[in-house]
Amino acid sequence: MNRGLVDAADPISERGPQLGASPVSTDTHLDLNEVVLALSDALDLVGVDDVGHGKRVAFMATEVANGLGLPEVARQKLFLAAVLHDCGVSSSRVYRRLAGDLDWAGSPDHCRIGHDMLLSFEPLADLAGIVLHHHDRWRDLASGHAGSEDALLANAVHLADRVDALLAQAPRQDILLSRLEVRDFVEATAGDRFAPELVGAFLEVSEAEAFWLVLEPRHLERFILDEGRTLRARPMAPGELRRLAELFARIVDAKSPWTARHSESVARLAVVLGRLAGLPETVCEKLELAGLLHDLGKLRVPDDVLDKEGLLDAADYAVLAHHTFETWQILRRIRSFSEIAEWAAFHHEAPSGRGYPFRRAGARLDPPARLLAVADVFQALAQARPYREHLAPDAILKVLREMAGSGRLDPRGVDLVSANLGVCWEAATVAA
Ligand SMILES: [Fe+2]
Ligand SMILES: [Fe+2]
Ligand SMILES: [Fe+2]
Repeated sequence: MNRGLVDAADPISERGPQLGASPVSTDTHLDLNEVVLALSDALDLVGVDDVGHGKRVAFMATEVANGLGLPEVARQKLFLAAVLHDCGVSSSRVYRRLAGDLDWAGSPDHCRIGHDMLLSFEPLADLAGIVLHHHDRWRDLASGHAGSEDALLANAVHLADRVDALLAQAPRQDILLSRLEVRDFVEATAGDRFAPELVGAFLEVSEAEAFWLVLEPRHLERFILDEGRTLRARPMAPGELRRLAELFARIVDAKSPWTARHSESVARLAVVLGRLAGLPETVCEKLELAGLLHDLGKLRVPDDVLDKEGLLDAADYAVLAHHTFETWQILRRIRSFSEIAEWAAFHHEAPSGRGYPFRRAGARLDPPARLLAVADVFQALAQARPYREHLAPDAILKVLREMAGSGRLDPRGVDLVSANLGVCWEAATVAA
């Protein structure tokens, strides 16, 4: 049995949620902060069963900034840097090491990767230095960057980050008990690991039980929402949305060596198919974004499942089946993204209604969503997986035809591939 095909259209349950029709989207008034905060939800999935790390770090670091009385501009910068600080981590294995070890020798790698990513996207490039140094000890930072505001902000992220790691390592007990040891640890390392003024502010703001109680997911959500509203508006310039989507596509594709450039290639192929199908250029632009972001939810799939060499079992499939739902939940937070969220999240739906996780069928599955599903299967088959070699174009077409015949892929989309096989192959594999 070819596991890639089952992966693409495995029926999970006969009773999926029925979603109401979404309003037609208009791409106006997009704000960079809104998009960044929504996409940062994807980063928080990397913890798998310990989600929300970036938000917890953002809350604690921001509270410390409040305690220090930092100017509003610095506070907002710290909040965004904290939310994004682990954008260099896609792997659940790496996350476990970072959360489980106070001083893991491999931690500089993710600081460098995150730094380079942010530096490549000009609107967020001012956060790159903070991310680069967020595992540095204060005694090292202070000698090289004396008086630098970024050094202090990086160390504030470090403090909040290590507090969250200590809480993750604490025996299962009430957080109000764990906090005592955590506070002692922070106090004992003042001047060495953490800046003395940060430690002073942390001890002051974390004295109240309420500080620790906010760390529960539902309260954290509220904090992020409230904080997000205070951020200085940053309307997105033309082209920025696509470049930000490309950045997150790279984060997702970095999760497994097997999926390098998968999202980018799916997006490219989906646009090719969209144009061949005669979809308007404005629709193709959205389809490209949906392609880049379609597997955001995969950040919650443990590495062991994605890299497994043998056949997946029922438990693995159950874990995998969450990922498009997670993609949908992340993208629907962005106003004006309703169509993009659906097209991205429906890439494992099937015209027969036996796809997952929404069981969409017929007119409830838009042409762009159908084309994206075809592009996803095509590109996945064009790449090797741990359990099979990559397929040649003719072999891919044969599989697509079988899937169209059994209601798992849109037959018109597969006809377009058939009539343009060379072009599709190139779009799916160039630079892949
Ligand atoms: Fe972290
Ligand atoms: Fe997927
Ligand atoms: Fe995919």
